[in-house]
Amino acid sequence: MQPAPPATTEERDAFLRDVIEGLSASPKSVPCKYFYDEVGSALFDQITETSEYYPTRTELAIMQAHVSEMADQIGSGAVLIEHGSGSSLKTRVLLDHLGDLAAYVPIDISREHLLATAERLRMAYPDLAILPVAADYTSAFALPDLPDGKRVIYFPGSTIGNFDEEQASAFLEQAARIAGPGGGLLIGVDLKKDPAVLEAAYDDAAGVTSDFNLNLLDRINRELGGTFDRDQFKHRAIWNKAASRIETYLVSLRDQTVEIDGKAFHFGEGEAVHTENSHKYTVKGFAAFAAQHGFRVRQCWTDPDDLFSVQYFETEA
Ligand code: AVJ
Repeated sequence: MQPAPPATTEERDAFLRDVIEGLSASPKSVPCKYFYDEVGSALFDQITETSEYYPTRTELAIMQAHVSEMADQIGSGAVLIEHGSGSSLKTRVLLDHLGDLAAYVPIDISREHLLATAERLRMAYPDLAILPVAADYTSAFALPDLPDGKRVIYFPGSTIGNFDEEQASAFLEQAARIAGPGGGLLIGVDLKKDPAVLEAAYDDAAGVTSDFNLNLLDRINRELGGTFDRDQFKHRAIWNKAASRIETYLVSLRDQTVEIDGKAFHFGEGEAVHTENSHKYTVKGFAAFAAQHGFRVRQCWTDPDDLFSVQYFETEA
């Protein structure tokens, strides 16, 4: 596997600050956005290929089965805005069916990844106006001048599941503001189901998700000079019924002290570091939540087993 690229000082400082803050708190945690260095992104891609992790393949199948209806809802001449575009794999399914978009606006925190993706898309869709925006969409950011046309936000991957209620509200509020009156939101939302299926999806038998979680400790060692021994921690995924979410943890296997940037952090035997939440919704529950931010449900597509949903909303014209 490729080593991670050296982060900029600014990125390293933010990472260090967040890790120190999270590991100084009680209970301990580390923000899940730090999973995605080069190694972590490659491991996530591997997760999506395990038999247990159903979301990615199910969402892609829903997109492929219903893309013409989605294109009908979006209509012609729209401006498609994607939050956290990554490599825009599912987007291609849409772009292939939206012949007459006014523009495609991918937004991603990783400038390098964003520009590489934009370049590839320009080759594949030479007539499409592509306006990449390098920004962290979880805070306020500026959009470039956009052509006229109905604005539709595309937010696939059930990334919304990583947000707690307050963060998800902030996202929907921002999405409604960007979409404007009569704007749309096409969003991938993972659904509540048998806890055994959920727990297996986040703790696959081959141990890829465990590696993905433990890579966070390796990344802290690589980028922040940490002294973690990953063999002294264990991956754990549990379904929290009350909060309707999968929670992942790294559990310390013994009493130990780890140094990060010259600071000592103590971990008791069995102490858990919270690393991720992945909220699961019902179709109705998510529609009610979106309605609080002015989004009216127009259409919802699911797979035959109701594992995953892709939902289309519009704001009042
Ligand atoms: C990328 C946030 C959708 O929560 O299912 C997969 C991340 N973490 N396995 C998810 C993830 C562990 C994933 N999302």
